[in-house]
Amino acid sequence: MNFLSITILLIIFSINIAMTFFYYWTGANLTGFHILAQIFSYLVVFYLLYRISIGFKYRILNLYDRLSNEKKSSREQRKLADSIFQDIPCAVAAITADFKIMDINRALTELTGTTMQKAVGQKCYCVFGNGEICPDCPTQKALQTGQVHRNAKLEINRHDTEIFIEQTAIPILRDDGSVKYVLEIVLDATEKTRLQKENDHMFMEMVNSFAQLIESRDVYTGEHSTGVKEIAVGIGRQMNLPLHTINTIAVSAMLHDIGKIGIPESILNKPGKLTEQEFAVIKRHPEIGYETLKKIKPLSDVADAVLYHHERYDGLGYPGLKTGTDIPLVARILCVADVFEAITSDRVYRNALSLEEALLVMYSGKNTYFDPEILTEFFNYLSIKNEEAKMLVQMIPIKYRSRLK
Ligand SMILES: [Fe+2]
Repeated sequence: MNFLSITILLIIFSINIAMTFFYYWTGANLTGFHILAQIFSYLVVFYLLYRISIGFKYRILNLYDRLSNEKKSSREQRKLADSIFQDIPCAVAAITADFKIMDINRALTELTGTTMQKAVGQKCYCVFGNGEICPDCPTQKALQTGQVHRNAKLEINRHDTEIFIEQTAIPILRDDGSVKYVLEIVLDATEKTRLQKENDHMFMEMVNSFAQLIESRDVYTGEHSTGVKEIAVGIGRQMNLPLHTINTIAVSAMLHDIGKIGIPESILNKPGKLTEQEFAVIKRHPEIGYETLKKIKPLSDVADAVLYHHERYDGLGYPGLKTGTDIPLVARILCVADVFEAITSDRVYRNALSLEEALLVMYSGKNTYFDPEILTEFFNYLSIKNEEAKMLVQMIPIKYRSRLK
């Protein structure tokens, strides 16, 4: 509207100036019509000037309103952020790039016993640590990488009680991507950890009960599952596998023969030699075990290990579904531990092999029965655990070759 008004105004001004010049140069007398036209044009000009000024007035008022609203809303946002920061039920500290505390909230003062006056402006590791940057500090990692980092550790709270905390360091970035400061959120996870430990304990109790149930049906095996677990976990630790894989190995070892629950006792405990048909029934236990466990979602890895624990590296095992490194890692480890435990334990129908004989049997299965890398890790695990085994392991390749001649 203002643009149109200004345009009309300019056109009228131009016509008036042109008319004035015309009368000045030609010396013509102004007629009544021309005088009326000029008066009318000036009225239009005044009207348009009035409209323009009203438009400007509203624009200025709008601008003022917008600026004051923005100021008000930013004040409200700051108040809201302060309120969240202070009242959130987890401890929070804002830490600068040089590890100085910018701000801490009420929950952190309650957790640590420090005050805002004592903490703000000090290095965080001096207020909350022992004067040096904590090992595995998530804030340090967040400052270095600009990414969120987490950590969990034991701490001592203000009442000198040991608590388990979870720290999350969230970097707040500038426009150029550099870290302006880090928000470190600390959660007291003591109760959660206690409940988790209780759950884990109950779960392992249940697994142990299942293992006992399996072994109670099979008079030959005794405490075979516990022995397999010890060896398999030892191999896993020797291989530096992550904790969750070690846990899967432990549970899989305890439950690897769970499928034997589905095998008739007359076959399972038959004193004499099994017929071909009976052995075929026994060979179904990995699949029965798998079918039992696969319905329990958290045990899906365990179910896979159970299914493949009798597979051989050369593909001649059973159920005969996988070969080589296609066989899941946990199942390949179980295979080594299962055989070694079985041949070094007394059975009703035979005595245990000597350590030397057992190591020769294991060595002879390299690349056929067993994954060679896992077998090497198994020998390393035994060497560290047992001095006699250490000496024998060094001699086994020579003895094995001499026996072949
Ligand atoms: Fe088995």
